[in-house]
Amino acid sequence: MICRSSLLAKSVARSISNNGFRRLASTKSLKETLQEVIPAKQEQLKKLKAEHSQAVVGEVKVENILGGMRGLKAMLWEASVLDPNEGIRFHGMTIPDCQQVLPPAPGGKEMTAESMLWLLLTGKVPTPDQSHQLSAELAEKGELPHFVTQLIDSLPKTLHPMTQLGMGVAALNHDSKFQAAYERGIKKPEYWTYTLEDCLNLIAKLPALAARIYRNVYHPERSLESVDKNLDLVGNYSNMLGFGQNEHLTEYLRLYIALHGDHEGGNASAHTAHLVGSTLSDPYISYSAALFALAGPLHGLANQEVLRWQMAMQKEIGDNITHENIKDYLWKTLRSGQVVPGYGHGVLRNPDPRFVALQEFCKTRPELQASPIIQLVQQTAEIAPDVLKEHGKTKNPYPNVDATSGCVLYHYGLTEFKYYTVIFGVSRALGALTQLVWARALGLPLERPKSYSMDALQKLIKN
Ligand SMILES: CC(C)(COP(=O)(O)OP(=O)(O)OC[C@H]1O[C@@H](n2cnc3c(N)ncnc32)[C@H](O)[C@@H]1OP(=O)(O)O)[C@@H](O)C(=O)NCCC(=O)NCCS
Repeated sequence: MICRSSLLAKSVARSISNNGFRRLASTKSLKETLQEVIPAKQEQLKKLKAEHSQAVVGEVKVENILGGMRGLKAMLWEASVLDPNEGIRFHGMTIPDCQQVLPPAPGGKEMTAESMLWLLLTGKVPTPDQSHQLSAELAEKGELPHFVTQLIDSLPKTLHPMTQLGMGVAALNHDSKFQAAYERGIKKPEYWTYTLEDCLNLIAKLPALAARIYRNVYHPERSLESVDKNLDLVGNYSNMLGFGQNEHLTEYLRLYIALHGDHEGGNASAHTAHLVGSTLSDPYISYSAALFALAGPLHGLANQEVLRWQMAMQKEIGDNITHENIKDYLWKTLRSGQVVPGYGHGVLRNPDPRFVALQEFCKTRPELQASPIIQLVQQTAEIAPDVLKEHGKTKNPYPNVDATSGCVLYHYGLTEFKYYTVIFGVSRALGALTQLVWARALGLPLERPKSYSMDALQKLIKN
């Protein structure tokens, strides 16, 4: 397996390289690889500042200010760029590119979170060895400190899992290397190495933290597996959730966590991590803040809402699932003034390629194709775009990743929808924390946009 994927990775990486994208990295460690790529990026930034600081790349309209800054080009983000029509590209690579070249876990087929993290951080495709080395490093750091397990165990089971996750992540800043080094007094060029250490520590500990929350809230009778040093990050997460024997679910989680890891910088959670990090808050408290942005229903909570909505539809329609019935239910939702969860997007104007990739996963497994809830999601995706177009409000009537992310979890027995955003939170750490490392390596400043009152805005328009 390793041999086959290594050859595949090399041949695809070569062709990607010929198209002007990325080359395979060498045998260096993650930190050594970063050390190699940082100077060129620093130079690029220096040149951009020196030669193009006054270049105009867009304009600010009143609609940008009143419309939640939609479309405003105002943020530097290295790991990925979201094209409204083609969807996300990670350092120029599409999701299918990544599926071809990023190494899977031993015995698996789907790219690992580690290989995606490597790509996001360095812009390079890791070899299987490099990816497995990173898995071993993360597993080594994966256990939670005792005070955090005590904190999580003391929380009421009725507290939303996302609130618990945010609290646990914030508490981990007790051991922040960046904060300790800053207090000691370090120089700016050293910031990124301590930030990287904190980010890797946090990513390593997220599965144990997230799995503990799951166990406490939903299965207090179960014992909790400890971190297995031979498993990759998601293999461990699945194992600690109690699904280690279900290779299909573990593979789905690998795919979902890797492809959901970054979606450029402007989304609410990534942007929050960036903003808070720009004050030189350490990665733990920066990402904790991001998790609370993710916990909103227009952002990460949508995946729990989608399943709730699809199941309510299933209950109402019963066994008689027809296009007409689904259409009626969609109109009922819209007429009651609610949004159709899992549809629309702040930037995308086509079906989300993450939705497409997860649907492709479903198509390869007969048990998923036979699942009533997955069939309903697929049928809804065929009908909803036309209904939303006729409704005429949303700028993007197509399904986003959340339209399908929860139903596979549900089919395989992870049925507690309130927990789904936590899995998203484990995933999004890959991109948000990558950018914190780059923000420190590039010495990006404190974020501070200018705001206006309506009166001040009107004065500005008059003048
Ligand atoms: C994702 C989302 C928040 C983007 O919001 P946005 O950038 O403001 O979207 P638009 O510019 O297309 O919104 C224009 C109008 O269409 C409506 N609209 C957008 N998506 C809609 C949907 N899925 N169902 C019904 N109406 C929708 C908006 O509520 C807005 O109505 P308003 O003018 O009365 O306020 C929005 O599409 C949504 O609420 N979707 C459902 C929740 C979801 O799936 N979130 C996960 C995103 S990955």
